[in-house]
Amino acid sequence: MNESFYHTPVMLNEVIDALQVKRDGIYFDGTLGGGGHSLAIMQAGGKVIATDLDSDATEYASKRFDYAGMGGRYKIVHDNFKNFTDITDELGISEIDGALLDLGVSSHQFDEPARGFSYQHDAELDMRMDKSGKLTAEDIVNDWPTDKLIRLLYRYGEENFAPRIVHAIERARNKGRIKTTGELAAIIASSVPYRKSGHPAKKTFQALRIEVNGELDGLGEAADAIVRKLKSGSRLCIITFHSLEDKIIKNAFRLLSTDCICDKSLPVCVCGHKASTKQLKALRAGKEELEENNRSHSATLRIVEKL
Ligand SMILES: C[S@@+](CC[C@H](N)C(=O)[O-])C[C@H]1O[C@@H](n2cnc3c(N)ncnc32)[C@H](O)[C@@H]1O
Repeated sequence: MNESFYHTPVMLNEVIDALQVKRDGIYFDGTLGGGGHSLAIMQAGGKVIATDLDSDATEYASKRFDYAGMGGRYKIVHDNFKNFTDITDELGISEIDGALLDLGVSSHQFDEPARGFSYQHDAELDMRMDKSGKLTAEDIVNDWPTDKLIRLLYRYGEENFAPRIVHAIERARNKGRIKTTGELAAIIASSVPYRKSGHPAKKTFQALRIEVNGELDGLGEAADAIVRKLKSGSRLCIITFHSLEDKIIKNAFRLLSTDCICDKSLPVCVCGHKASTKQLKALRAGKEELEENNRSHSATLRIVEKL
């Protein structure tokens, strides 16, 4: 099988080093994608429990693992990693030896025009990771009130031109529903001034994708839940790709790794909060990977170790 056909794993060596994979240890991969990280964990001797919202990923990766002779070393669940506790409880797993979340979308999701994630292809405005999900980007673009849409673009796209873009969307949708990525990208491009860096639709598409998939909801809580089941000395690795998700993970890891969280003005601790992890140094992709894999440029690998 062509390994990079679906997705080239980002910071693979760094993740495998950080996880310190033990023979027959159990590792949770919450974002299976093409299975590149999971396969490397299994090749290093570990066993994997993996989730993905996308049935393309679960189907592709299970074929890939069987082809690589890993039958019996993995369990794939088509689910949200935010259901980690229920998923592992159902499998009778009370402790794990490490975990990875490689956040965001896979190259397959971006590159497959029919998924509607990309402004590079003209396709239906979909953007659902889970194809059985109810909300699509088309619903948001056409049905949300103007002020809510502007807030979304500010909040999840950090788009300074949010009002201009949304008013252009409003004018267009008054004439008929905006149905494709191509139509939306053209509306955005015609409403904002020329940008030297990046496609004018990049931030709007990011905002829509985050909302459709609830990407930032419950992320910190998911990290907490995973850490609760980590064995002492084991690690949770999270790869983030933009400032919004990175900020959430940075704050979640800081909280997990801090003893007292009382107001600094109090003379003694009244919260009784105890750190359950220690933070390791955050890592960025190395020079060689930066040259080979464009996606690695925005990646930050954050790691905590269970105390
Ligand atoms: C960056 S890719 C992971 C790539 C993977 N590490 C590899 O080596 O191929 C992210 C994957 O996570 C999935 N995903 C994103 N959020 C998820 C969530 N909350 N629960 C389960 N899967 C999720 C996406 O569908 C996508 O397939």
